[in-house]
This record gives sequence, C-alpha cells and structure tokens, in this order.
Amino acid sequence: MQANIVLLPGDGIGPEVTAEAARVLNAVADLGGHEFQLESHPMGGNAIDDFRNPLPPATLAACKAADAVFLGAVGGPKWSDPTAELRPEQGLLDLRAELGLFANLRPVPVFDSLVELAPLKPELLRGVDLLFVRELTGGIYFGPRQEQGDGDVAYDTLVYSTAEVERVARVALRAARGRRGKLASVDKANVLASMRLWRRAVTEVASAYADVEVSHHLVDAFAMQLMRSPAEYDVILAGNMFGDILSDEAAILAGSLGMLPSASLGSGRQGLYEPVHGSAPDIAGRGIANPIGAILSTAMLLRHSLHLEAEAGQVEAAVAAVLADGLRTADLAPPGQPAVSTKETGRAVAARLAGA
Ligand code: IPM
Ligand code: MG
Repeated sequence: MQANIVLLPGDGIGPEVTAEAARVLNAVADLGGHEFQLESHPMGGNAIDDFRNPLPPATLAACKAADAVFLGAVGGPKWSDPTAELRPEQGLLDLRAELGLFANLRPVPVFDSLVELAPLKPELLRGVDLLFVRELTGGIYFGPRQEQGDGDVAYDTLVYSTAEVERVARVALRAARGRRGKLASVDKANVLASMRLWRRAVTEVASAYADVEVSHHLVDAFAMQLMRSPAEYDVILAGNMFGDILSDEAAILAGSLGMLPSASLGSGRQGLYEPVHGSAPDIAGRGIANPIGAILSTAMLLRHSLHLEAEAGQVEAAVAAVLADGLRTADLAPPGQPAVSTKETGRAVAARLAGA
C-alpha cells in the first residue's frame, strides 16, 4: 500500500527516537512492498526558534493531508520560562485539537523479560495487560483560562459536555469488548461537578454494552489500587489530566517510561502516534534514549491508520524478541550492566523484522 506519513521529530530526544521509528517503518515497507512516504516537519521548540510558532501553518497543513502523523517529543528548558509567550506544548495541544483526536490510547506493555526489572514485585505484574483510554481534546487542558499576567490570579477550568464524554466512553467500551470485557472509569465525582457529569455520561453509554463490566473509581484511591493490584484492570477510561497522570504512573509496570506507546484517534482513520515519554533534555544528544515506546507507536500507526494488522504484530513481536535476547537501553539496564544505544536498539528491531 501507499501511505503518506508526516514525522514531527520535535525536541530533545525526539529526533533520536523518531529516527528509529522511521527505520522500523522503512523496514516494514521494504518487507511488505509498501510505499511509505516519510516527510519531516518542524514542530515544538525548534519551530518556535525558527518560525516563532510551535505549530507552523505549513506543518499543520502537512499533518492534515497525511494518512498518519508520528511525533517524537516536544519541549525543553530553553522554552520553559513561565513567562514565555510561546510554548512547545501548546503546538501539540493545538495539533490534537485541529485533527480532532479526542481519544488517546495508551497500552501498557508488560514484557515477561522485563518483569524482574520493574520496581514492583514480579507476582504483582503477572497477567498485567492494561489499556488507558484518555480523553484528549477537552477537560482542564482546554477549558477557559486566564494567565497570571501582571495580576495575582490565574486559572484553568475543567469543563466536559455529555457528548465529549460519551464519544470517548464508546471508544473505551468497544476496546473492552475486544479484550477482557472490563472497563474502569476514573473520575472525582465526590468533589467535582464536571466529574459527576462524567460518571453519569459513562453510565448512560455503558447501558448499551451489557457485555462489558463497568466500574467507577475515584482518582485518588485508583492511583493507589493501580499499583496494588494492576492485573485486576483491563481498559481504564479517564479524562485528559487524570489520564495524563495515571499513564505515567503505570509506566512503573512496564519498567520504564521509555517503553510506552500511544495513539491519538478521532472519528476517522487518521491518527497521531507518539511515545508517552517527553523530550528528556537531560539525556538528549547522547544517543542513549530508549526508542521502544516510539517503535511500538509505529506498530499502533500500522494497525489503526494503515490497517496493516499483520505488520503491526510483527513489529511488536520483534520488540519482544530483542528484549527476550537481553537487549537493554540505559533506562532498563540494571546498574553496572552494559546498555545498548538508541540506534543499536532500532537496528536490532529492524534486523529481527527482516529475519522474520
Ligand atoms: C503527554 C504529555 C503532554 C500532555 C504535554 C507534552 C502537552 O505530557 O502527552 O502525556 O500533557 O498531554
Ligand atoms: Mg504526559
């Protein structure tokens, strides 16, 4: 097949992990006789430097025209002055909103070969298979807000409409139906009006999915339960900010934040795919970042935007195989053990694919 994929390498380790994602996409294309056109565009802090805009119009136009978009990471200390007018992260939020990507899928891959490395007891990790569905274009990230300016007050507003909750709840319920049939919805209905609406809307939509077992949880207690008995959960549905926080917490289960992929989807086939980790300025430019979250994001791209399910499975199997072989980037290597580089990891996955 032919596909037009836009790459937004971004800042910090973004370009390093994007290069390995591109290597894997090229390997998939070579193997399957596909034609993937990969085209890089500026976005984030680098785009602020060069265009005074974290999401330049030409980048947005290219994303809108693409079959799929891959993003490395955005942000860094250079652009994080609290008084700065332009922020790299705003480019990402605008891109999600412009493309209408309201559902963010964040699976938590727990590989057998890494169970011993995670800080939790191995017996807690056995059987863990989680999928977060995070609402992505609403909630406190997008409600009315006021910057501090010269005054002493600033605010952000948590707003949800029934329709916004219902559409993302449907995505989560359908996902649960195709998995173990369980949905845990996370809110703060004991305190926040918007979260009482959230709970009502989820309950309402769920009534049409009698085969899915739905439970409701308050976010504070859930954050604890998630570490105490992670194997109990299947699909976890949360609003924009709670989903942001809980998915980073869940990285503990995967052994490293560098392992987590994501797919941001709307009502069509187009999607934005990005590792869950950030730009990691502390290790940028050293070639040691873990590209597995980025590579697993390309598997999600193949699956959700290109409908290449077999190829997606091959990428995931190649990742599992190189990890089983003992390949470890610095974030995964036990202290004192040698670690492989970002490039070596990407090359090993591509070689596995070619040998598959
Ligand atoms: C994420 C990130 C982003 C978010 C930032 C970079 C805007 O933390 O994708 O999880 O908060 O959504
Ligand atoms: Mg985050």
